[in-house]
Amino acid sequence: MMYTAEQAKILQHETLNWLQESGSNFITTANLEAFRNLLRFHEYRYYVMNDPLIADEEYDRLYTLLVNFEKTHPESISKDSPTQRVGAGMIKDFPKVQHLVPMLSLENSYNADDLYDWDRKVRERSGKELPEYTVEPKFDGASISLRYENDLLQLGLTRGDGETGDDITPNIKQIRSVPLSAPFSDYGIQQIEIRGEVLMNKNNFRLYNESLMEEGLPPLANPRNASAGSLRIKDTAVVARRNLEAFLYHVSYIQTANQQSNQLPIPQTHSGILQLLWNMGFRTPVQEMKVVKGIDAVQEVIEDYEKKRDQLPYEIDGMVIKVNELPLQDQLGMTAHHPRWAIAFKFKARQASSRLLDVQFQVGRTGAITPVAKIQPVQVGGVTVSSISIHNEAYIGEKNLMIGDQILIERSGDVIPQIVKSMTEVRTGDEKAIQFPTHCPACGDILYKPENESVWRCININCPAQVLERIIHFVSKDAMDIRSFGEANVRKFHEMKLITDIPSIYQFEVNQLLGREGFGAKSVENLKQAIENSKDQPLHRLIYALGIRYVGVTTAKTLAQQVDDIFAFQHFSEEELQQMEDVGDKVSKSIYAFFHNPDNITMLEQLAGAGLQTKKPLMLPVDGNLAGQTFLFTGTLSKLKRTEAEERVERNGGKLLSGVSSKLNYLVAGLDAGSKLEKAKKIPGIIIIDEEEFLKILPG
Ligand code: IVH
Repeated sequence: MMYTAEQAKILQHETLNWLQESGSNFITTANLEAFRNLLRFHEYRYYVMNDPLIADEEYDRLYTLLVNFEKTHPESISKDSPTQRVGAGMIKDFPKVQHLVPMLSLENSYNADDLYDWDRKVRERSGKELPEYTVEPKFDGASISLRYENDLLQLGLTRGDGETGDDITPNIKQIRSVPLSAPFSDYGIQQIEIRGEVLMNKNNFRLYNESLMEEGLPPLANPRNASAGSLRIKDTAVVARRNLEAFLYHVSYIQTANQQSNQLPIPQTHSGILQLLWNMGFRTPVQEMKVVKGIDAVQEVIEDYEKKRDQLPYEIDGMVIKVNELPLQDQLGMTAHHPRWAIAFKFKARQASSRLLDVQFQVGRTGAITPVAKIQPVQVGGVTVSSISIHNEAYIGEKNLMIGDQILIERSGDVIPQIVKSMTEVRTGDEKAIQFPTHCPACGDILYKPENESVWRCININCPAQVLERIIHFVSKDAMDIRSFGEANVRKFHEMKLITDIPSIYQFEVNQLLGREGFGAKSVENLKQAIENSKDQPLHRLIYALGIRYVGVTTAKTLAQQVDDIFAFQHFSEEELQQMEDVGDKVSKSIYAFFHNPDNITMLEQLAGAGLQTKKPLMLPVDGNLAGQTFLFTGTLSKLKRTEAEERVERNGGKLLSGVSSKLNYLVAGLDAGSKLEKAKKIPGIIIIDEEEFLKILPG
C-alpha cells in the first residue's frame, strides 16, 4: 500500500508502542488486521523501499506475536496474513498452467542504428513526431508472471515456453517484496496478470557461491542461473534462504468488473501503471525508470546507465525502451514474436568465446588441489581473462571439458569468471582428456580424496605450496591486514627464503630489503610499521588468519567471543565446540584437529611471544549502563571538570574508587597522569582509557 508521510508516522508510532509494551499489549480479533497491516508496512519498508524503520529483531518479535496468536486462533488465519508465506513445506511438483496472455520476448538492439530504426517505425506507425518513451533496466534474472484475483495472489508462474509456465506459487511467496494481496478492487480490477523478473543480487550471489564452494560444490556461472534454479527448488525453506528479489515491469492482462461510481481510474500510461503498482506495495522500477520525449533523450539515458552498470547491486544486461502511452501501445500491436511498442537495448556482452589451452593444478592453503584452465586470452566485460578456476574433478566431468575445446566464458559483474559450457559440437577429435594428478604438484606426496568429498588433497602440512598460501592468507585484508605486504611481495620473500612460515613474518629483518628494486626507505618503513601494527589486531582476526578449514570471518568472531585466550581452544572437546553458534560437525572437527596439532601450538606460542594479541580485548560498555563498574580519575581532564565526570559515573550506575587496586575496572587518565597510571599499568585487568574514550561510553 502507498503510505503517506503522515500514515507512515502513525504506523511507526504504533509499532513502537507494540515494541515497548508487548508484554501488556495483546492481539485481539478486533485489532488483528491492523496488526497485520503494521507487519505489511515494515515488509514494504524493508523489501520494496529498502529503507527499514525497525531492526530485524524487532520485526521478528512482532512477527512471533502474530504467529502465536494465529496458533491459538487458527480460524482467524487469512490467506494474505504475513505468516502465510512460509510453512508451505515441500512442493511435490510444479503443474503446468497457461498464461492469460502469451509471454513474448522483446526485439533486441545492439547499437544506436538499430534503435533509431525502431524509433522511425514507431513514428511512422503512430503518426507521433516525438513519442514519449520510458527507459528502464533490463533485469537479468528469471521472468515470472503473477496472477491476482479478487485482490489475492493466486498464481506465480515461470515463463516456460511462453504459452504455459510452471506453477511455482509457494516459491514466489518466499519473495518478500511480492505482496500476498493488493487493493485492485478499488480500481474495479477483478483479475490481473503482472510480469516481472526474479533476481538474486550480486552480494547474495557471491555469498551463495562461496557457500557452495565451501561445501566442495562447483559455483554457478551467473545470478541469472541462480535465480532460475532457485525458483525450481522443492523445499520452500531453502528458497527463502536464497533471499530472492523481484522487479515487476509489465501488466499483460486486466479484467474489470462493471463500472462503479466510486471506482478509481486506471492510469493510461506505462509509467502510471508502474507507479500505481508501486503505490499498492509492489516493487516496480519507478525509481530506476526515466520518462523522456524522443529517441535522442533515450540514447542519453542508456549511455548514463551503461556507465553505472557495475555499481548496481544486481545484474542488468541492457535497457528496455517502451512507448509510454498505453493506447499507442495497442495501436502499434505485436508481431508473432514481440511487441512493436518496446525494444531491448543490449549492453556489451559479458560472455566471450575462447579456447581451453591447458590445465594447471594449484595447491591451496588447506591442501585442496584446484584445476585452473589456461585459456586463449579474451576480453570479457572490460578485462582480459587468461585463466579460470575449474574447481574440481566432478566439475570437469559435468561441463564435459577437454583440452583444446572451444569454450564460452562469462564474467558477471564483480563475480569471478566462469566457464558456461564447452562447444562439444565443434570438436575436431584432437582434444585431449584432462588428466587429474595422483601426486601433489608442489611436494610430490600422494593425493587423497575423502569418500564424501569432491576435492583431492595433499595432506602434507609442510608442503611448500600450502605454507606459502597460508602466509598469503595470514596477511590478507580480512585476516591480519598487513597491507604493504600483498600477495606478490609474499611470493617474492618466500622465494628469497626471507619468510619461511607465519612466525617468520615477525622475525623478518625488513631493513635488508633496503636498496633492492622497489624498496626505498619509505616502503621499507611502511612495511615495518604494518607488521608492527598487525600485532594489535583483535583476537578474531588472528583466529581467521590461521586459515583453519571452514572457519570464515563470522565463525572466527563467534569463536573469539567464547574464550579469553586463544590457547583455551586446546581444552575444548568437539562436543563443546559444537555448542557454539555456526559450529557444526565438520567445523568442530576441523577446529579440534587444528588445536591438537603440536606444530600449530608451537606456532601460536611463537606468535604470542612476538607480541600478537592472543587474548580477548576487554569490551567497553557502549550503552552507558555502568552498573557494577568501578572508576578512578587521574591527571587533568580537558573537557569535563573532575567533579562533573565523577557525577556522570554515579548517575549511570557506576562506582568511584579512591585508589588503584585489582578491584578497579577503569582508570580514566587525563593529562600529566602520574603514579596512579604507572601502578594501574602493572595490574592486569584494569582498562586504561583517556577522556575521549570515557565520553564515548557515556550515553548522549
Ligand atoms: S517488458 C511484452 N521490461 O527481457 C514484453 N522485460 O528479452 C514484456 N526483461 O522476457 C517484457 N527486464 O524477461 C520488460 N524492464 C523490463 C525487463 C524485461 C527484463 C526480460 C523479460 C523478457 C525479456 C525479453
